Amino acid sequence: MRDTKGIILAGGTGSRLYPLTKVTNKHLLPIGGKPMINYAISRLSSADVTDIMIITGIEHCGAMMSLLGSGASYGCSFTYRVQDEPDGIGGALSLCEDFVGDSDCIVLLGDNIFNEDLRPHIKKFKDNDEDCMLFFKSVADPRRYGVGVFNKKKLIKVEEKPEKPQTDLACVGIYFYSNRVFEVIEQINKSDRGEYEISDINNVFIEEKDCSHSIIKGRWSDAGTMSSYHTTSWSVYQEK
Ligand code: TTP
Repeated sequence: MRDTKGIILAGGTGSRLYPLTKVTNKHLLPIGGKPMINYAISRLSSADVTDIMIITGIEHCGAMMSLLGSGASYGCSFTYRVQDEPDGIGGALSLCEDFVGDSDCIVLLGDNIFNEDLRPHIKKFKDNDEDCMLFFKSVADPRRYGVGVFNKKKLIKVEEKPEKPQTDLACVGIYFYSNRVFEVIEQINKSDRGEYEISDINNVFIEEKDCSHSIIKGRWSDAGTMSSYHTTSWSVYQEK
């Protein structure tokens, strides 16, 4: 069976959290008493995925390394790469090709905070032997997200920030891929907003019928807006 590597994307600009992100990286901000990035690390390490690449932007990569170090204190091994320009989630992921090598990878967006146990999902992914597995969660405001379109229970596509969402199921920032994802990234172009969109990558796998999906049952939120940042922090704090 192929090995599984972890990837945490912690670049971007964090403009919706400005001015909190004026002098630091969004993923270093506190959530429920810990730096935001600790939650992604904990989801991976508790699923025994301990070989982890962390992508950050140039501005705050030193602070990120000062906080996390080699990973030894987390029972992990961290490798860092700098994303020179915030050219999207696809752009950040493309930097991980050599790190992933022949393995599979679990990609987490560093501002997605969830308590789902990834182990059963990893088992399903390995058993299915597909190249992509996506995760969905019912949300109150689907227009902020990539939204799943289904025919009965079959996933047909992910629509990026639709004005009229066909479902309330947001495609969350947890993605399982084989290393074929790097071939797919080569096929896509930048969107109108100048980013390599993860939905474009995922739609290639969906069109090729090489993609399964799961619904997240546990707590999940994206802490990227001022309001979701505060509600996420409060719900995580209360859970302790
Ligand atoms: P977003 O929240 O879409 O973008 P952002 O972090 O730049 O924030 P804002 O829109 O408020 O300016 O990013 C989702 C996650 O993906 C986040 O955890 C950071 C990561 N990301 C990268 O690693 N590189 C990138 O180029 C982008 C755009 C995001």
